[in-house]
Amino acid sequence: MQPARIAPSLLAADFAHLAEEVAMVEPHVEFLHLDVMDGHFVPNITFGTPVIAALRRFSSLFFDCHLMTTNPDAHFPALHTAGADLVTVHIEVCPDPTRVAARARAEGLSFGLALNPSTPFEAVEPFVELVDLLLIMSVHPGLGGQSFISDSLKKVEIARKFIDSHSLTTDIEIDGGVSSENARAARDVGVDVFVAGSAIFGSPDPVAAVRHLRAAVESME
Ligand code: DX5
Ligand code: ZN
Repeated sequence: MQPARIAPSLLAADFAHLAEEVAMVEPHVEFLHLDVMDGHFVPNITFGTPVIAALRRFSSLFFDCHLMTTNPDAHFPALHTAGADLVTVHIEVCPDPTRVAARARAEGLSFGLALNPSTPFEAVEPFVELVDLLLIMSVHPGLGGQSFISDSLKKVEIARKFIDSHSLTTDIEIDGGVSSENARAARDVGVDVFVAGSAIFGSPDPVAAVRHLRAAVESME
């Protein structure tokens, strides 16, 4: 298991003041989680490369781009230019991500693979060695502010066993409904990266919310 990292999800930020929202949390977190939705893989449309490029001018955080789109690799060159560090694609749209992973690498991007709550770990198992990060969704993708699906922790446990038994350094990220209430349980089964939208940007004091989340994750470590 790697050191815990916190990834505020921009989806829950005030879209009229994005630069200020990011600047507020930047000294306290490691990643910025950017949910790109295309209105096709998921019903909603959020933002794309122009917004990511604009934020890159104000932030040196690790840009963790979660692509909820049907043709994710078509955007890799533009995402690289915009300043993305990691691109995560869904196994549900790339059942064999070998070529997509190679394309990300060729663009100088780190590569992640995401699974929906209803997709079993077995779907990604043959590809774990190709990826830097495995994103285990703990809500159905497409919307912030949903409740954490506790069953996703069983999948984390399976993924952690696989990663450790193969001596890999793949990060496990959990995304959806994460809060100080459930983060410790997620750390216990092997989560490295904690995405939180509502729990951070939805809080009246996002910096205190980050501290609270980190304290929960690191308690008794
Ligand atoms: C959902 C997104 C999440 C979302 C999490 O499709 O992938 O990243 O922003 O938001 P919360 O933390 O509010 O569930
Ligand atoms: Zn996400």
